[in-house]
Amino acid sequence: MTSPSAIASSPASAARLTLQWEGIAADTTTIRSLDWDRSRFDIEFGLRNGTTYNAFLVRGERTALVDTSHAKFRDSWLPLLATQIDPQAIDYLIVSHTEPDHSGLIGDLIDRNPEIEIVGSKVAIQFLENQVHRPFRSRAVKSGDGLDLGRHPESGVEHRFEFLSAPNLHWPDTIFSFDHGTGILYTCDAFGLHYCSDELFDSDPGAIAPDFRFYYDCLMGPNARSVLQAMKRMEALPPIRTIAVGHGPLLRHHLDLWLGDYREWSTGRSKGEAYAAVCYMSQYGFCDRISQAIARGIGKAEAQVQLVDLRATDPQELSALVGEASAVVVPTWPAQPDSDLQASIGTLLAALQPKQWVGCYDAFGGNDEAIDTVADRLRSLGQNTGFEPLRIRQVPDATDYQRCEEAGTDLGQLLTKEKTIAAMKSLDADLDKALGRLSGGLYVVTARQGEGDGVRSGAMVASWVSQASFDPPGITVAVARDRAIEALMQVGDRFVLNILGEQNHQQLLRHFLRRFPPGADRFAGVNLLEGAAAGGPVLGDALAFLGCRVAQRMEGPDHWIIYAVVEEGNVADTNAATAVHHRKVGNHY
Ligand SMILES: Cc1cc2nc3c(=O)[nH]c(=O)nc-3n(C[C@H](O)[C@H](O)[C@H](O)COP(=O)(O)O)c2cc1C
Repeated sequence: MTSPSAIASSPASAARLTLQWEGIAADTTTIRSLDWDRSRFDIEFGLRNGTTYNAFLVRGERTALVDTSHAKFRDSWLPLLATQIDPQAIDYLIVSHTEPDHSGLIGDLIDRNPEIEIVGSKVAIQFLENQVHRPFRSRAVKSGDGLDLGRHPESGVEHRFEFLSAPNLHWPDTIFSFDHGTGILYTCDAFGLHYCSDELFDSDPGAIAPDFRFYYDCLMGPNARSVLQAMKRMEALPPIRTIAVGHGPLLRHHLDLWLGDYREWSTGRSKGEAYAAVCYMSQYGFCDRISQAIARGIGKAEAQVQLVDLRATDPQELSALVGEASAVVVPTWPAQPDSDLQASIGTLLAALQPKQWVGCYDAFGGNDEAIDTVADRLRSLGQNTGFEPLRIRQVPDATDYQRCEEAGTDLGQLLTKEKTIAAMKSLDADLDKALGRLSGGLYVVTARQGEGDGVRSGAMVASWVSQASFDPPGITVAVARDRAIEALMQVGDRFVLNILGEQNHQQLLRHFLRRFPPGADRFAGVNLLEGAAAGGPVLGDALAFLGCRVAQRMEGPDHWIIYAVVEEGNVADTNAATAVHHRKVGNHY
């Protein structure tokens, strides 16, 4: 530890923004921008724990800064940096990738130090030219290239960076940087999590594991193959002592656990041939986030997914990725694309194959081709519709992202249909019948989050429900991984378990077992007791309800076992009995 720790508060502003400056290894300091209130669906599907943007200062004979911060920290980040080092004394800025939450202050830094040399991948340097609109000195690097900062005069430690290309993690321009002097690997988005706390390191893995998993599913899972490629490159490095991530606590104490998780999840997602190619254009409208929502939905159905950047994928690779996919998802593109993009769109359309499933979504980029034109174009090529065009009429909100995720799940289910049917048939007949003698009650789980236009809600019929603790009172619900409502049952979320009565459950079952299109209001026409419980609608015709809060999620092979603490409850008719679900076989509910 070389520098004293300091917490600097931002000027009084509505949002809680603070800064943390702390030594993490020889001659190495982190500047963490803590964004306490940034909420879920505001940023790339983070959970409710806010997020951080981490930058790093490494001093040898020369000095390098790794990444900057989000522009919202401009008023506090730059002054804090200036108290620690004269910006003109920073020789290099290593840009791990150019997403604005890490690169938002690069322009300001160039203004303060026009001589600073910006080090990044070739694609990152190109992206940056369009972002900062100022001349700057640059050095494009790729896997195996190095940057020697020389020895720090006091510590004697030599800081020599080695770069690793890590395309698609999660932007196409990503590089990892390994400092041979400290064993720190700087990975920016990869291995990160949206979690805001003063805790600098991963000292409490249990506390951050759900967010680590959620972040992986949203941002890394759709590029599982790229994760494995990057991890292979990491294996050739000397021992990694710390992974200095761009979001959340730095990983130091449980590296094997985190790396093992990434390896296991990515290997699982890379199995099998059939995949959906979800195309997007980096730095265009809301393409990035919408494509992630669709990709997350596809992943929930256990289907493979590959995000494809139309701007940064070379024509041959694009043609192969699209041509070999079982499903292709396409954004609306600019009505007047530049020549490179125009060529990519041509390659994409030419690579489409008959019988592929296709879907399209509004990129909401401002001057897009109309979505119906894009949909017609796809239809005229004779493709099968995987989901109806996803129209986005305004800056996308939580409701839009939910709709996109559900459309993705529908598409994913089309790809995994045969596998699912085969799995159902594979049970031994006797075992199947014996398992079928397990019975349960009949329930409707409901959840609602957000307000106004951004409200997200869901409902599902459930019978795999059981009381699981006395003190505090708790229950478990087994929720299939591809259920729409799964997204609303993360740790900390509230939901309502509506317990159905023996006498009147049929009608409710009929309603909630219908197939709802993506984003449909599942409560239309249903009698609700508004405000009866926090967390979700209470069905007026239910026998009783329990208001629950998710405390833990255990990952089963095809269901999440969700343990929730029951916070409130009420019974409408104390004499009535709960509806019971008797089954014959164990391979259906
Ligand atoms: C009697 C019965 C019990 C069910 N129990 C569960 C359950 O416990 N967990 C679950 O994930 N799905 C269960 N399902 C399936 C879902 O209710 C149903 O497929 C779901 O509403 C579809 O919603 P989705 O579009 O969100 O996937 C059950 C279905 C029936 C018919």
